[in-house]
Amino acid sequence: MQPQKADGLGNRTEIWTFFRQWLRRPLSTAAVSPSSRFLAQRIVTALPEGAERVIELGAGTGTFTRALLDSGIKPANLLAVEFNPELHSYLGGRFPDIHLVRADARDLARVEEVSRFVAQGPVQAIVSGLGLLSMTRQMQHSVLAGAFELLPADGTLIQFTYGPRVPVAAEVLRELGLRASQHSFTLLNLPPARIYIFSRSRSVAVTGQRLHGA
Ligand SMILES: C[S@@+](CC[C@H](N)C(=O)[O-])C[C@H]1O[C@@H](n2cnc3c(N)ncnc32)[C@H](O)[C@@H]1O
Repeated sequence: MQPQKADGLGNRTEIWTFFRQWLRRPLSTAAVSPSSRFLAQRIVTALPEGAERVIELGAGTGTFTRALLDSGIKPANLLAVEFNPELHSYLGGRFPDIHLVRADARDLARVEEVSRFVAQGPVQAIVSGLGLLSMTRQMQHSVLAGAFELLPADGTLIQFTYGPRVPVAAEVLRELGLRASQHSFTLLNLPPARIYIFSRSRSVAVTGQRLHGA
């Protein structure tokens, strides 16, 4: 399955596939339509310089996946995580060459395929399309703790949000020793979106080193 690029807001198959899932699972899908190509391009510009290996959380219909591949990330160096079975299957048809896992992003560090991918080489960034804003603090904590367990000390997590503020509770950031900085804002998305970059605070000891590749 290779959907046609129609415009910046996605093609009809992609939009319809996504919309159907929103009708069925509005809370976890967290958006009515896929992100725009413009937001996806911004996400890619937030990657750390020289990033080669990336994990994507909540890949949906693959807007960010496409942009990551177009930016030069090799399919073998990209692992996408999606827990919705229909979207996981859609992604498998659209991107047969990437690593694709059907899993809950809250269990990231316990998923075998993810551990294997990280053991093959360091992952410089995690791109998240998850609706963190609609998650409880406990869920946010699980997602971020698991993600930073996989990243090296200078690794970053890139997250977009429709809200005007950091989409993670301040106490969760404090507990995990993380800081967030706004990277950019784009009007060219429905709704307009901000991108934040999460990284470890310098003052906090790094604990999550167990899975890193050489
Ligand atoms: C706001 S959509 C973003 C989709 C896509 N990244 C985009 O920007 O168009 C959130 C996606 O995360 C997935 N998702 C939500 N919670 C998840 C979880 N705990 N683990 C894995 N995927 C999840 C949803 O199924 C949905 O595809």
